[in-house]
Amino acid sequence: MNGRTLRVALPGREYDIEIRRGALGSLPAKCRELMPKAERVFAVTDETVGGIYGGRAVSSLEAAGYKVRLHVVPAGEESKSPEKLVEIWETMAAFGFTRSDAVVALGGGVVGDLAGFAAATVLRGVNFIQVPTTLLAQVDSSVGGKVGIDLKAGKNLAGAFWQPKGVLIDPDCLETLSDGTFSDGMAEVIKYGCIRDAALFRRLAALGGRDGVMSEIEDVIYTCCDIKRALVMEDERDTGARMILNFGHTLGHAYELAGGYKTWTHGQAVAAGMVSAARIGRALGATPRETETQIREILEQYKLPEKIECPSEIMREAVSLDKKGSGSSVRLILLKALGEAEIYPIERERLLALAEDVR
Ligand code: NAD
Ligand code: GLY
Repeated sequence: MNGRTLRVALPGREYDIEIRRGALGSLPAKCRELMPKAERVFAVTDETVGGIYGGRAVSSLEAAGYKVRLHVVPAGEESKSPEKLVEIWETMAAFGFTRSDAVVALGGGVVGDLAGFAAATVLRGVNFIQVPTTLLAQVDSSVGGKVGIDLKAGKNLAGAFWQPKGVLIDPDCLETLSDGTFSDGMAEVIKYGCIRDAALFRRLAALGGRDGVMSEIEDVIYTCCDIKRALVMEDERDTGARMILNFGHTLGHAYELAGGYKTWTHGQAVAAGMVSAARIGRALGATPRETETQIREILEQYKLPEKIECPSEIMREAVSLDKKGSGSSVRLILLKALGEAEIYPIERERLLALAEDVR
């Protein structure tokens, strides 16, 4: 059989991640298999993805006998908002959506988080499947059930853990991504190599760029999803092992904030955040110098920044908002070696001082 499948074996909420070139064509069959009682499909997408893949998805679902509503939101993080969530709830109600019907999230992480949160909350929770179309969404956000929206006070501040019924990954969708959005996803792919899989890291270094990665894309996505699946199965609620996915994110969030969420994308901020975490790890005697050098070199190959300027007061604000913290300390993720992450509790003030020292 073409493609590969991974099972997320969470008791009572198990599901498969199917990774296959051309998988989008089997969306109606997937809906039928995973949500057999559904008569209506409420698909959420954004303007860009809807323009490229929406028509095909809708006509194939209609041809399979579903009543279909395609709900299109503007592309970009601004759509992960309370206003868009309410708009979706109201449109679903007007569409006659019932508890046995199905939600489909067709898009990147923004659409997946928003549609997933709508599915988690409408009618006290309905079934949904993730059809991720960015590299970031295919290797990260579509797996693991974190869904949510942003508030004025910060990103992802309202949300839920709501696992999908399935994840259908079509790597062919990545062909239409801009180079910038592809690079963003590569930051998370590289992160998996850093935290759990030195062989993946070396392989990415050898593949050297987008064309190389696309030549082995099914396997690269499979490797990343396999790491994420294992961490989610061990720690669904993100109170332990799953936190290592946060490598590069503590300072990355500060860099995103420093750029007002416009200058730097999430992937770029995480890239620079990984280098800062490696430098802080070195200063603490936890991370070898060689690891920092290897990370800097691979980021250059994938056109990702190794350094982003951030004023001290913004750094302080971001570190105090860090959700992985408790009291006066933060759980920083450091590398003991390439492929080996550890959770390192550190006082906020000490982290801030180190962040100043290493910049
Ligand atoms: P995104 O969804 O905004 O997509 C990036 C851009 O790519 C958008 O302009 C979109 O229209 C476009 N696009 C998507 N698929 C395309 C395709 N196949 N061809 C052409 N263009 C396409 O951003 P993203 O990077 O996918 O996701 C970022 C979001 O994911 C953030 O909100 C972040 O908080 C969230 N996230 C969630 C989790 C989680 O576990 N739930 C994990 C990581 C990130
Ligand atoms: N992206 C981090 C997580 O899913 O835990």
